[in-house]
Amino acid sequence: MENHLTVVNHPLIQHKLTIMRDKNTPSNQFRQLLREISHLLAYEVTRDLPMTTKTIETPMTTIDAPKLDGKKLALVSILRAGNGLLDGMLDLIPSARVGFVGLYRDEETLKPVKYYFKVPSEIDKRLVIAVDPMLATGNSSAAAIDMLKEAGAKNIVFLCLLAAPEGVARMKEAHPDVPIITASLDKKLNEVGYIVPGLGDAGDRIFGTQ
Ligand code: URA
Repeated sequence: MENHLTVVNHPLIQHKLTIMRDKNTPSNQFRQLLREISHLLAYEVTRDLPMTTKTIETPMTTIDAPKLDGKKLALVSILRAGNGLLDGMLDLIPSARVGFVGLYRDEETLKPVKYYFKVPSEIDKRLVIAVDPMLATGNSSAAAIDMLKEAGAKNIVFLCLLAAPEGVARMKEAHPDVPIITASLDKKLNEVGYIVPGLGDAGDRIFGTQ
């Protein structure tokens, strides 16, 4: 992937995102829309996966048909909101291995605090797609990528729904080798680190915990 930041400007994504941003959209619809958007983002993020061929027989003839090459990729959900993107990604890539990074944001310092980490074996040989809907300050995302690299991951992509310019800059500084794919580059962060215009707290909106 050439660009550090890719904004997927597909009309279906943008339309669904508008409904998600609306504060009156209930959790069940929010979750469903996030799942649908994940399908479209999964399509984009897997665009450059390496391919090989396999000889098969169709009812008509024998051909060398394309198939995915290499080790199964790893989807790593940054808890807890990452799970909202994970489900849809798994719909499209059901054989992917799955890992979890548990980080929460200290609401006073805005710094990430780690509480869980588990990733698939041979992580160094897999494409790792780290998923978190909101790239806000970039502190948790950069910390999660640090942890993935410490575990051996070498080929990482970061997938989010919304990104703030501050988070993109932080990630570019900390991890210039990790491309970011997002559905929208929003305007800014507010004084407590929320994305504006944003959609509020993604975890609360997915799980109805407000
Ligand atoms: N996390 C969220 O869920 N929302 C934001 O706007 C920023 C961080």
